[in-house]
Amino acid sequence: MYERRKDQAQGLRDRMSGSGRAPKVITVASGKGGVGKSTISVNLSIALSQMGKSVLVIDADFGLANVDIMLGVAAKYNLSHFLRGEKDFSEIIQMGLDGVRFVSGGSGLDELLRMDEGQLGMLMSGLSKLDTDIDYIICDAGAGINDNLMRMILASTETIVVTTPEPTAILDAYALIKTIVKRDKFHPIHVIMNRSENRREADRVLRGFKDVMSRNLGKDVDLLGHVLYDRDVPQSIKQQTPIIISQPDGRTARDIKAIAQTLLNTSAAKDVPNRLARLFARVMGTR
Ligand SMILES: Nc1ncnc2c1ncn2[C@@H]1O[C@H](COP(=O)(O)OP(=O)(O)OP(=O)(O)O)[C@@H](O)[C@H]1O
Ligand SMILES: [Mg+2]
Repeated sequence: MYERRKDQAQGLRDRMSGSGRAPKVITVASGKGGVGKSTISVNLSIALSQMGKSVLVIDADFGLANVDIMLGVAAKYNLSHFLRGEKDFSEIIQMGLDGVRFVSGGSGLDELLRMDEGQLGMLMSGLSKLDTDIDYIICDAGAGINDNLMRMILASTETIVVTTPEPTAILDAYALIKTIVKRDKFHPIHVIMNRSENRREADRVLRGFKDVMSRNLGKDVDLLGHVLYDRDVPQSIKQQTPIIISQPDGRTARDIKAIAQTLLNTSAAKDVPNRLARLFARVMGTR
């Protein structure tokens, strides 16, 4: 047992030392539902993977989980099977398109965030058994602002808020960001505008949104960019092939790749402490 803990601690130190080996944990959230969180989570994960990053997507929307369908994998088990000790971590993780790994959260993600220290230690040992380091963990969240979502956001390294140009979506995005800022003023927040009709309008609305955040909340949000409305996107979901795979040189693929590049630049530019990694470090007594 002691040896195992020592191995875990070493694994964790390896992860935490050097150039950012601890994974960045990014929650993709929105206030309003149906704005494109799952579409963006899946396509952005594939884009990051194509850029050489090792990516794990967690479907954290246990109401309407559908990332597995989008990624073309069949998820038999989820995180709660692992947490209950019924399955090894390797049994709940699946290989999806273009090397993106996938874990279905089920009710497990919330269990995880409510866990005691011993259980967290067990999870960490599961993660350290992965044969590869993960650079990014992308958590696709459900819609609405509730305690589960807030727990997940506050445990992440950063959050991507997705909105569309509709005033209701923007108001809900504002409400979500306000709630985050109230709980943690320094939590890094990125914003993506999805399904806009034209680029100029998207940029104008995004810049206006940033100004309002800054003026009303004293919060500097990062603008990751926009994805234009593309009628082939709903089609790609029906065909279970993400648009970045089916139309790799298309407009939407380019929009997503530009966002991925901006995310890499913004994330790298900041020294963001990884809360989950810090939590694990405390659990295992490494600091
Ligand atoms: N850029 C886009 N252009 C056109 N349609 C889009 C675009 N992005 C997403 N959609 C469509 O919008 C709908 C909602 O997308 P998605 O399921 O990704 O949203 P969501 O925010 O995850 O929803 P939920 O809140 O239910 O989880 C889908 O039918 C999807 O095909
Ligand atoms: Mg969704």
